[in-house]
Amino acid sequence: MPALRPLDASLDLTLEAATDTAEAPRRELFASKRVAPSILSSDFSRLGAQVDEVMAAGARLIHVDVMDGHFVPPITIGPLVAASIADLVHDKGGAIDVHLMIERPEDHIEEFAKAGADNITFHAEATPHINRTLNAIKELGCLAGLAINPGTPVSAVSESVNDADVFLCMTVNPGWGGQPFIADSPDKVRRLANLVGAGTIEVDGGIDPATAGSVAAAGAALFVAGSAVFGADDPAAAYAAIAEAAGAA
Ligand code: DX5
Ligand code: ZN
Repeated sequence: MPALRPLDASLDLTLEAATDTAEAPRRELFASKRVAPSILSSDFSRLGAQVDEVMAAGARLIHVDVMDGHFVPPITIGPLVAASIADLVHDKGGAIDVHLMIERPEDHIEEFAKAGADNITFHAEATPHINRTLNAIKELGCLAGLAINPGTPVSAVSESVNDADVFLCMTVNPGWGGQPFIADSPDKVRRLANLVGAGTIEVDGGIDPATAGSVAAAGAALFVAGSAVFGADDPAAAYAAIAEAAGAA
């Protein structure tokens, strides 16, 4: 049963306005050129400290990889972990970038929105309800992203060009960190950029100082990096090197 609106509607509107004000700068982060460290490769026994470390180096988008053991073989983390770092990230002016590698993503978006996600990306291959899911994510107050696997043609997003905020082009097969960058990816990113026009393109997988420049030149603006950041001896220096190669903040 839907919740009844409170009698004092003006109070409710004030609260909504306050929330919008806090969210606006976080949304703008997704419209800039940014490296997004993926906590998949972090040391989970000291997750907060690892997030602090990359944010001190300038990171503002923290990428959260959710895997369900069905869409991809591994099971990783869920909304509890996203919620555990959301305040820390938001208090430092950052945003949570959730990447759902799960079947039936439409059944789980509300949990992630409540956990503090600022952007929720799901896979075009994971649901027949792309349009409904993009709109539902936006109704929950988040940016909406649509991802495609390496074997999926860019035309899979053609009917969503005006509905998605972020288009995620996988540059490895989803499921694991530390895989090599697929060499044909810059060409695919170029074709995706032609298709989505002003839409933001995110790349994910095998991004490091040697590969970031090629996808940046092809039109990518958001660069997810897991093992190249958290697998390095000095994650802050690794973050800076990738950002420099990508021409990102
Ligand atoms: C892979 C995940 C990636 C992963 C990238 O399925 O979506 O975000 O963390 O890891 P690296 O940067 O190590 O390829
Ligand atoms: Zn990811």
